[in-house]
Amino acid sequence: METKLKLSIEEAASLLQNKQTVAFPTETVYGLGADATSDEAVSAIFAAKGRPGDNPLIVHIGSVEQLPQVVAEVSDAAKMLIDAFWPGSLTIILPKQANLSDLVTAGLSTVGVRIPSHPVALELLKKVNLPIAAPSANVSGRPSPTTAQHVADDLRGKIAGIVDGGETQIGLESTVIDCTATIPVILRPGGVTKEEIEAVIGKVYVYEAPKTEHRRPRSPGMKYKHYAPAAPMTIVRGDAGFFQQVIDEAQSDGKKVGILVSEENASKFDADVVVTCGTRSDFSSVAKRLYDALREFDQHDIDVIYCESFDDSGLGEAIMNRLLKASSHRVMAQSGGDV
Ligand code: TXA
Ligand code: MG
Repeated sequence: METKLKLSIEEAASLLQNKQTVAFPTETVYGLGADATSDEAVSAIFAAKGRPGDNPLIVHIGSVEQLPQVVAEVSDAAKMLIDAFWPGSLTIILPKQANLSDLVTAGLSTVGVRIPSHPVALELLKKVNLPIAAPSANVSGRPSPTTAQHVADDLRGKIAGIVDGGETQIGLESTVIDCTATIPVILRPGGVTKEEIEAVIGKVYVYEAPKTEHRRPRSPGMKYKHYAPAAPMTIVRGDAGFFQQVIDEAQSDGKKVGILVSEENASKFDADVVVTCGTRSDFSSVAKRLYDALREFDQHDIDVIYCESFDDSGLGEAIMNRLLKASSHRVMAQSGGDV
């Protein structure tokens, strides 16, 4: 399939109306969109990404008026969240509407939905006037794309086209919150923080993925390897001396070592490849750079990656969630402080 790299919004809208797959920018990451009411269109998403069929997709709409096309009912908490955070990076899980393709929800009775705030996404969704299923536009298991180039690197030849809207603003996926229970549960931390949500609806729970894969996870996406660069990554928790010692030991085993560190720490360490990722004084700069930084390691010939660890308050919670997944929860900790 030939992938058109610079689609206009009109071209993208007409491809989507014709059940084709189109990647487009949102404020979080690029999504790979298709008509959420069509089995044929939705199965093309799973095929292009190599995504397991039991992992449901998020549905995107351009206005609240479209919500009844996607969900069967809206709880009071969900209404408050919609007023506070849409358009924006909050995906809300609600009981699904019968019209949607069952492939979108992987057979679940619930569906995740959001209105993105990116002007290109909004204009496209309004023009198409259909609910659009759109997971992140990466090959399954790879870091999510934050530029049109990342999308092309992963999916060129497998999708109809890409709308290039430049670099995405937030850089991490939306927060996913399940509003089907009395007390809502955050299933995936993201662009909107727990603190911001609790300021609107009061106490929420945060779901913690089981460490073993025996139990069925509550959000099916949680059980898969995610966001991972090619070389195995380990998070290092400790002071600068400990971090350097970890690097030195791997090098003395003959390994080429890449490290992922904040700008503050970049000059402190001696490694084969140093990739920087924003500043510790502003977590939004770390979030924005994170996936590009993870992809950068694949351009280098390295055997292992060691990564700095961050405080998990505010946006730090989403950053650590992605880093832990990218490193398959491998953490090397010194007893005592952080880098
Ligand atoms: O920011 C985002 O959310 C991006 C942009 C493109 O909107 N999309 C995105 O989609 O990250 P995806 O498919 O890569 O991640 C969706 C996550 C998965 O972990 C999936 O398992 C979970 O949401 N999910 C979707 N529907 C669900 C449902 N009904 N119940 C529980 N989890 C659900
Ligand atoms: Mg994804």
